[in-house]
Amino acid sequence: MLKLKNKSLLLTGGAVLLAGVLSNKFETTVLGDDNPPPTAESLQFFKDKVRPILTQNCYPCHTETAMGQLRIDSREGVLKGGSRGPAIVPGDPEKSLLIEAVRQTGMLKMPMNGKLTEQQVADLAAWIKMGAPWDPAEHAEPVVPAVSAAAANSSVGEEYFETKVRPIFANVCSNCHGDTATSGLRVDSRESLLKGGTRGPAIVPNDADKSLMIQAVRQTGDLKMPKGGKLSSEEVQSLTEWVKMGAPWPKSKPMVAASSGPQFKISPAQRAFWSFQPLKMPATPSLKNAHWAKTAIDRFVLAQLEAQGIPPAPQADRRTLLRRATFDLTGLPPTPTEIEAFEKDKSPNAFEKVVDRLLASPRYGERWGRHWLDVARYAEDDVRGLDPKGRGYMPFRGAYVYRDWVIKAVNEDLPYDKFVRMQLAGDLTGDKNLVEVLPATAYMGGGPWLWDQAEPVQGRADSVTNASMPCRAACSGSQ
Ligand code: HEC
Ligand code: HEC
Repeated sequence: MLKLKNKSLLLTGGAVLLAGVLSNKFETTVLGDDNPPPTAESLQFFKDKVRPILTQNCYPCHTETAMGQLRIDSREGVLKGGSRGPAIVPGDPEKSLLIEAVRQTGMLKMPMNGKLTEQQVADLAAWIKMGAPWDPAEHAEPVVPAVSAAAANSSVGEEYFETKVRPIFANVCSNCHGDTATSGLRVDSRESLLKGGTRGPAIVPNDADKSLMIQAVRQTGDLKMPKGGKLSSEEVQSLTEWVKMGAPWPKSKPMVAASSGPQFKISPAQRAFWSFQPLKMPATPSLKNAHWAKTAIDRFVLAQLEAQGIPPAPQADRRTLLRRATFDLTGLPPTPTEIEAFEKDKSPNAFEKVVDRLLASPRYGERWGRHWLDVARYAEDDVRGLDPKGRGYMPFRGAYVYRDWVIKAVNEDLPYDKFVRMQLAGDLTGDKNLVEVLPATAYMGGGPWLWDQAEPVQGRADSVTNASMPCRAACSGSQ
């Protein structure tokens, strides 16, 4: 009985904490009451088995940097938990978020870029079962080895850099701080950031607030980066955490040692990513109202509607149907004559005829070619980047030739493989009809001008992989 009562108290405690109202102290007492006092053995278990797991695997992100607002360097910290509430429920590993996280059975998977061994997970669970004893003596001492040292020397910090930081440098900053080294700053190595630009060092490892780069991306002062834009708050947070970790940067791999070096491992979770899956025919769902569905796609739509308890919309009238089809396929409304003709046509294949007419219309390629033109970063003019040379408006002469090629390709149903090959290497495929093919190669020459510099190679790599592969590839701009 008593236990139950405490449990419900605990639950309320967790919920209130989420709202950030309850003080730590009160919470700790509530939870503490539920547990037997630590014994010498249980404390020894903590020291020998548990603390090393925490210091090595969790401290880089859960001490001062408190990712997810969680600190793991004291019992109070773990009890208070992070943005999701308490990380552990002493005595009950099954209810403990921390255990769920290290088992990696749910959405939250910790440590962020790795996995504990089964033994380590079992030790953590056993420790929570004991009531999560924590050696109080350690409490007073700074248990945290310099956060930065831990992170900088561990692969955790490097992983953090690779997944969170390098993409920002590569995709956002290197356009201006790669080879061009605007304002003297390059972002392609730790050394160049330490050296900085005309204003001096861009980063002070471990001290985000003192780092010019962080001030610049927070945009709190005069210097606002990226020039002409703003990072998301999550990206700013990533750069900040990274500097706080001491700005770990993987040592550049020796050029020849690629095969003998550590192999890149693809985890099962990565392998299961949706865009790497081969195409397959899924079974069509079973329905209550099966006669409503005319096609297999209807069945998927209706299955969701039925699951949500929403009845299908009533049948559209002819005029509405024609409007929808015409906008869909040509981007334009139907003309009065077309509406009249369709309303009058009572033949059973009247709608089929409309669709055939629309697919045959030159407007069809104009409408659908535009999606590819977006991918290909097509434009007909620009102001040169931020226009430092004051040249103003500059139309791209002849850009329309590429545009028209794309439209024609869509209208003529050019097979996709040929469509891609012509754009990547139309001049090298041996095609005799160069007049037809060459405009396609403008794909590689297009792209934005930044700071009066034509788009560097990485923008092209980005566009090509983005358009035609199941995952993007980017390079850091130090080609
Ligand atoms: C490389 C950094 C990193 C490491 C190492 C790491 N974590 Fe985390 N952890 C995070 C981040 C970032 C979040 C926030 C994730 C989110 O909210 O989705 C988080 C969130 C959590 C949370 C949820 C906190 C909350 O209330 O939202 C738990 C529990 C947790 N971590 C446990 C651990 C444990 C245990 C370890 C060590 C075995 C560990 N983490 C190692 C980065 C890390
Ligand atoms: C469109 C071009 C452009 C992009 C993109 C850009 N910068 Fe800059 N950056 C500049 C220019 C121009 C200056 C010089 C500004 C000045 O002197 O007022 C500068 C200066 C800086 C400086 C100060 C260097 C010094 O010592 O003078 C830092 C730090 C910096 N940028 C960081 C970044 C970071 C980090 C990013 C990516 C998040 C970024 N920049 C993206 C154009 C850019």
